Amino acid sequence: MNRNPAVVPRSSLTRGEFLRLGAGLTGAALLGAAGCGVRGAGQGGGGGGGGDEFTIRLSHVVTADDPKGKASQKFKEVLEKSTEGRITVEIYPNSELYGDEDEIQAVQSGGVEMIAPASSKLTDIARQLLVLDLPFIVDDTSEVPDLISRDSTVGKGIYTNKDLADNNIKVMGLWDNGLYQITSNKAVRKPDDLRGQRIRITPSDAIQAYWNKWGAKTTPMAFAEVFTALQQGVVDGEFNTYSNIESQRFYEVQKYITISDHGYLTYVLAMNNKFFNSLPDDLQQAVVEAVDEASAYNREIADTVNQEARKVIEEAGTSEIIELSSEDRQAFKDAVVPSIWNQFADDIGQDIIDELLARKS
Ligand code: LMR
Repeated sequence: MNRNPAVVPRSSLTRGEFLRLGAGLTGAALLGAAGCGVRGAGQGGGGGGGGDEFTIRLSHVVTADDPKGKASQKFKEVLEKSTEGRITVEIYPNSELYGDEDEIQAVQSGGVEMIAPASSKLTDIARQLLVLDLPFIVDDTSEVPDLISRDSTVGKGIYTNKDLADNNIKVMGLWDNGLYQITSNKAVRKPDDLRGQRIRITPSDAIQAYWNKWGAKTTPMAFAEVFTALQQGVVDGEFNTYSNIESQRFYEVQKYITISDHGYLTYVLAMNNKFFNSLPDDLQQAVVEAVDEASAYNREIADTVNQEARKVIEEAGTSEIIELSSEDRQAFKDAVVPSIWNQFADDIGQDIIDELLARKS
């Protein structure tokens, strides 16, 4: 898999150039300076006429070859074709424009039109999304489509989430990556092996709670900083999907990868709601259809991308892969299910927790 950004937007700057240029400027102001964003009279203007042209800037933090990067590219291709150029999609991968620290603010304020963060990164705004961070929410990726479909209990709570809507965020789709594995410099075979280890987490109270229950110390950290933090020993380990472990080269600076399959990484494809509403009806429809096509594609490829990444990691031989027996995995699970699920019932909804627990019994 290619680790370098394969998709470089026409008018983008590198992250380094961006940061050097950026002293004192906000991201949105800088986008203006870089000549991105507004085309024609319609952008953000509230319902422009049929001839207007629009640019959707889609910012994300992974490479172009990860499940999210590939789905973003598909979205661009489909939408630019179906709108015959009335909408241009500019993709900014690899945190090169906005990273975890500022992308959510950027989509709310119109610094970009779209982002696709891990659901955990939105839990500060919308506590109900903590549901997707529950440990062992699925045991296998085949359970995911039902779990998060638009009309499932969990799906409805996300697609129609009031906290997100109140924050000018429209949920366009949910994208897959895959199951979480644990990377570390110490062999992890049982929860107790994590005792005292400093683990980088994505910012989510539910994620923090289960790692603490396993005995680990947690450090929330932006994705772009994780490789260096692992390399320099600022943290001892982290958890991620094979595709992220591979494309970020975490496997080169971690001695062990434990196949824990202990959670699922879902992305919320989020759009600036005012921008969406400013599009003429036919372009709104085209955006929805392009999202649906890109989402279907994303689901089709996510498992394969992860399995290919696992192969690359295995072939590199720089880290030992630890397979857990079903009893070993069960020990991780028993330590946090259902206790962590119940701990967040007030945020997620007791009815949803009950339904999820019933699915598992
Ligand atoms: C992470 O921060 O580890 C992931 O959520 C990054 C991503 O977007 O896949």
